[in-house]
Amino acid sequence: MEVIIKQNYDQICEEAAEIILQRWKKKENLSMGLATGKSPLGLYKRLITLYKNNKMDFSRVVAFGLDEYLGLKENHPQSFAYYMKKNLFQHINIKKENIFRLKGDPEDINSHCREYEEKIKEFGGIDIQILGIGRNGHIGFNEPSSSLASRTRVKTLTQETIEANSRIFKNKENIPRHCLTIGIGTIMESEMIILLASGKEKSEAIKLSVEGPVTASVPASILQLHPVVKIIIDKEAACLLAHKDYYQWIYDNKYKVEGFIKNSKEKKS
Ligand code: GLP
Repeated sequence: MEVIIKQNYDQICEEAAEIILQRWKKKENLSMGLATGKSPLGLYKRLITLYKNNKMDFSRVVAFGLDEYLGLKENHPQSFAYYMKKNLFQHINIKKENIFRLKGDPEDINSHCREYEEKIKEFGGIDIQILGIGRNGHIGFNEPSSSLASRTRVKTLTQETIEANSRIFKNKENIPRHCLTIGIGTIMESEMIILLASGKEKSEAIKLSVEGPVTASVPASILQLHPVVKIIIDKEAACLLAHKDYYQWIYDNKYKVEGFIKNSKEKKS
């Protein structure tokens, strides 16, 4: 796990955008798993700027939505489909046929979930999965107690999550209680995972996920078992981490390790 601690939210987004840009330079048909919520908003703004400045082209990029409220149609202003369109897709040149999402109104839920998993496989899996984190440690909508091997399926939201996400709903009674989410097992098959978190309200979840035991009670803790995870957080979200100075030390000395690796490759050839 690489824990990258930045001064503020803007810097988190800058770091994540740079990682994505570098990865895209090596693979233009990048397949990305995209989260919603407050956390990735600044990242999406930066991706739009990269596109507008002709630094990144999305014509071959493929996008997979992470989750969706059950019962909300695509054009519902609180649906995640609407969020993605408004905050990213309508501003870049991603092709409509390369955007995949979980539907809030599928005809047959189980076959929809199965087909979604198959679609991800058809594109060779997700190259970069962007995640936020819930205050209770959820990733996607995989709430505490979700199987760490789970696949795409229906979940019932916790009251805490309903409460946390209620800010976007005008009529609180209409907040969905169920959702579709890609599973933890599905997320873990991504080649790289970038988790973004900002603010003190996320510090407990970050502490438990990064330094606590791996447990279904804190779904994001499973990321400790993934080989390429970047936890990019600000000072506030990092404030409870016992080893934050060491994480900073690793980051500050990273260029030296990269130098050693480069030298050893040159020596071999
Ligand atoms: C929702 C989403 C998650 C997101 C989480 C945190 O529950 N399903 O994907 O990570 O909220 O959202 P925020 O970034 O707004 O705190």
